[in-house]
Amino acid sequence: MKEMKEKEDSQKIIYITTPIYYVNAEPHLGHAYSTIVADVFKRFHVISGYKTFFLTGTDEHGEKIVKAAQQVGKSPKEYVDRISSLFRELWPKLNISYDHFIRTTDPEHIKTVQFILNKIYEKGDIYFGQYEGLYCVGCERFYTKRELVDGKCPDHKTEPEVIKEENYFFRMSKYQDWLVEYIEKHPDFIRPERYRNEVLSFLKEPLEDLCISRPKKRLTWGIPLPFDENFVTYVWFDALINYLSGLGYPEGERFKIFWPYAHHIIAKDILKPHAIYWPCMLKAAEIEPYRHLNVHGYWNVEEAKMSKSLGNIVRPLDIVEKYGLDAFRYFLMREMVFGLDSTFSEDAIVNRINADLANDLGNLFRRSLTMAEKYLSGEPPVCHEITEDERDIREKTLACIEEYEGFMKNFMFHRALISIWEVISLLNKYIDRMAPWELVKKDKKRLSTVMYHIIEPLKIISVLLWPFMPSSTEKMQEMLGLKKKGADIRIEEIKEWGRLSSVHLSRGEALFPRIEAKTSKKEEKKKDKKGKEKGNLISIDDFSKIDLRVGKILAAEKIPGSKKLLKLKVNTGEERTIVAGIAESYKEEDLVGRLVIVVCNLKPAKIFGIESQGMLLAASDDSGIHIITPDGDVTPGAKVK
Ligand code: MSP
Repeated sequence: MKEMKEKEDSQKIIYITTPIYYVNAEPHLGHAYSTIVADVFKRFHVISGYKTFFLTGTDEHGEKIVKAAQQVGKSPKEYVDRISSLFRELWPKLNISYDHFIRTTDPEHIKTVQFILNKIYEKGDIYFGQYEGLYCVGCERFYTKRELVDGKCPDHKTEPEVIKEENYFFRMSKYQDWLVEYIEKHPDFIRPERYRNEVLSFLKEPLEDLCISRPKKRLTWGIPLPFDENFVTYVWFDALINYLSGLGYPEGERFKIFWPYAHHIIAKDILKPHAIYWPCMLKAAEIEPYRHLNVHGYWNVEEAKMSKSLGNIVRPLDIVEKYGLDAFRYFLMREMVFGLDSTFSEDAIVNRINADLANDLGNLFRRSLTMAEKYLSGEPPVCHEITEDERDIREKTLACIEEYEGFMKNFMFHRALISIWEVISLLNKYIDRMAPWELVKKDKKRLSTVMYHIIEPLKIISVLLWPFMPSSTEKMQEMLGLKKKGADIRIEEIKEWGRLSSVHLSRGEALFPRIEAKTSKKEEKKKDKKGKEKGNLISIDDFSKIDLRVGKILAAEKIPGSKKLLKLKVNTGEERTIVAGIAESYKEEDLVGRLVIVVCNLKPAKIFGIESQGMLLAASDDSGIHIITPDGDVTPGAKVK
């Protein structure tokens, strides 16, 4: 196991696949998610110096497709050509860098399927027999009674048909013991662990042989069995083989290079064919099993799985048009914990864009480059003598790279992003504390050192975020004046502090504009109704986004030209300037030394030319404004919960 891992790392080769999608429906958010995951994973390996191959495509045979074609009055071929091209055309619009798009109607694929069928047949692992079973057309598979819920397919909520016919069977039961042992010996064969456990628990019961054919008199839209022309191949047996035909198996050079490093990405709906049928098929065909099966959960919309029948399909391009591609990609990767279900909503996207992208990252980037232009005329800063603060920035930024790599390799994308955001927040605080706007007046050398410790981490952040947001990060790299960009930079280079050199720094366009929440009339009504039912309640999550802290007022002064405003210096664990509209209720000297409650994560705003970094909590009534004070001598910076 350890040896295999080491081999995987030392060879630096990776093969990444998505499911091949059925062409009975147009691409939706769920398809987009799996494919974006594969793309992020590929791009991460590109900047890690791996040789990569990324396969996606469409699954085009079977009864389900014939029915969908009939419904729109098209022949299966016309129909699959149209929908398959919708997938193929969508991916570039989502910046998906796949290397090959496979269709199960491709002649090369058909040849490979027949080659494998022959191989297994000749070996004696395919036999002819009678079968009676419960068949769900939606899933294109037989169900056992114990798998049904109230006699219905758990996914499609329809009663399966009873089908009795003669067919060919794959002797899957023969491989059960081998499979259990293989999964037990390779703990990360199926991951996350919950799915591995699910498969092992399923394998506690005896495995039935797999029916792998359909009689032509019932279905013609499939790959003919090479040893009996009266039958076509069962769709799953056909579809899974795409992972081999996409590499040109059996002769293809690509197969030899990439197959030992195969990573499949799927959602939990197709766990059984991938975790059980597929390894047994490979074993029977005398091919090494794939390396990893990576299984994610469902995107739900309003608590229900997305489906055509529920009418809650989310179309990826609608979201991209509204919020931008990189924001969409970031949201999907940050919001879903790989392996668990997630809920999609536009409110959630807007919150993430505003908080993470516009406020944290966008703001940091913009203010840093504005300062670089203003104080250094765009010249790359130079590092002089450093202090504990700079050592800390450097150590934490470099440590983040290590953490990031570990998380990315293990499909923990949200954790990788959290690590990056910790550095972003560290930098925002460092800037506030170092106040380059003060340094420029008194100490140019120190200013340059501080700016260096802002710009270097920004370069690193732009590289680490490239797999997630390729086009925005390339714009960042342009503004940072990097000589190389995107796919040409290697993670190894950023591990060496200061190695990526800049030519000239310039502030470009704002990368992630804030989204003003505009709700449609229909949504407003719905919200209003929900609000009324719940008394306009917000969730604990919404509340916990507000960073409230105890502050101590250090200084207060009037702002010339304003009757209402005071400029305060407040210690909230760090020193910040706050412009507060309390001049008519408080005298400056009465405020100094007082404890107050401050909203610390408000987007800074310019008021009377002064940047206000937060807000005081206060109550107001006819008697005037009353600031809120904690009961007792609390340490400045303490969190208010
Ligand atoms: N054709 C088979 C796969 C054969 S692979 C050899 C198939 N196709 S599908 O069009 O139904 O795609 C299923 C896959 O689409 C899921 O495994 C997942 O990757 C993606 N998703 C579809 N709906 C989804 C969600 N609601 N949420 C997350 N992913 C989803 O099954």
